[in-house]
Amino acid sequence: MGPMAETGSGDTNIAEQQLVDSLLVTLGLGALGSVRAYGGRHRNWAGATVSGTEVFVKRIAPGTPSGARTIGRLIALESSDWAPVPRPRCLGWNAETGVLAYELVAPARDGRRLADDGDFDEATAGRLGRLVARLHNATCPPWLDSSIPRLPPLDELDALPLEVYRNACAAELELWRLLQRDEALTAAIRSLCSPPGAALTPVHGDLRLDQFVISGSDVRLTDWDELRRGDPARDIGAFVGEWLFRSTLGIADAGGTAGHEEIVARGATRFEEVRPLVTAFWLAYLEDRREPDADLVRRSAAFAGWHQFDRLLAGAEEQSRLLPVERAAAGIGRTVLLAPRRFATTLGLVA
Ligand SMILES: Nc1ncnc2c1ncn2[C@@H]1O[C@H](COP(=O)(O)OP(=O)(O)O)[C@@H](O)[C@H]1O
Ligand SMILES: [Mg+2]
Repeated sequence: MGPMAETGSGDTNIAEQQLVDSLLVTLGLGALGSVRAYGGRHRNWAGATVSGTEVFVKRIAPGTPSGARTIGRLIALESSDWAPVPRPRCLGWNAETGVLAYELVAPARDGRRLADDGDFDEATAGRLGRLVARLHNATCPPWLDSSIPRLPPLDELDALPLEVYRNACAAELELWRLLQRDEALTAAIRSLCSPPGAALTPVHGDLRLDQFVISGSDVRLTDWDELRRGDPARDIGAFVGEWLFRSTLGIADAGGTAGHEEIVARGATRFEEVRPLVTAFWLAYLEDRREPDADLVRRSAAFAGWHQFDRLLAGAEEQSRLLPVERAAAGIGRTVLLAPRRFATTLGLVA
């Protein structure tokens, strides 16, 4: 996402800004001058320091087990010289405060922005496919996390832990109910997480379009929070799933005058327009990927289905109910998850 807004004010923000400046001063860069923020899960700050270095800083709150593990993964990565694909250079970190500083890639647009601007073409898709193939071709380094990913949330498929329940808003609860009472769907999601014949590789694990920072033919992949040894289909499915999700939500008819059938039909038409991008990504991936396993296409399609739920769960926060377009996205995700092989070609994953 491009720069969004000035960061807000308030005591917490000031305290966090001090943590950021303290790291930047320790690194010899000097404090940040004016600051802007990018979209993302975590707090971030971008701008020039007093010494003139353009930086991107993000903070992962270290207070929770999952926060601490994420910080651990990022530090393990940045302490190594493992770089199968280009990523923004890390300038340093503070493990205690969870603040990490990177060089700012600018000027650049992220993949989502490029798509919104109508500038995401087949050449770009091909570049991204090759980049992801290179990542999947890499040998798993010994420090690579091989734990089970945060998503899909296997425990929550049975019942929501009290903490999650307490903090969930109405739209999230609606989505959880939809998942939990659907045995075929939960079984399909579960089987995604323990794929029998999958050859595991390094995977980015959260491959949304906005994680690609693009300037011309230069592409860098950001946000390595979820880097693990895992099923490469997860990354391919996320890329495909992004386009599927965009097609369904489209220029959201948020008022909800369109009926379910109409939303789905319109989404299918929109997806047909972007399918060549998925195919360009996939063919470039296959060209560069060494030894993809025989079942990769099926699992990738299934992950594209799961991705609809991934995006819905991320977006449902603070919403009072699911919109009709969101229920449609859930329905499409379900359909694909239940019969991934059947939909692979439709999704652009051509043989
Ligand atoms: N070094 C960087 N230079 C320019 N843009 C960046 C850089 N790192 C991240 N971004 C952009 O900011 C967004 C948010 O950063 P990210 O690391 O993904 O944070 P989060 O973990 O909160 O999602 C990314 O999606 C990307 O578009
Ligand atoms: Mg991100």
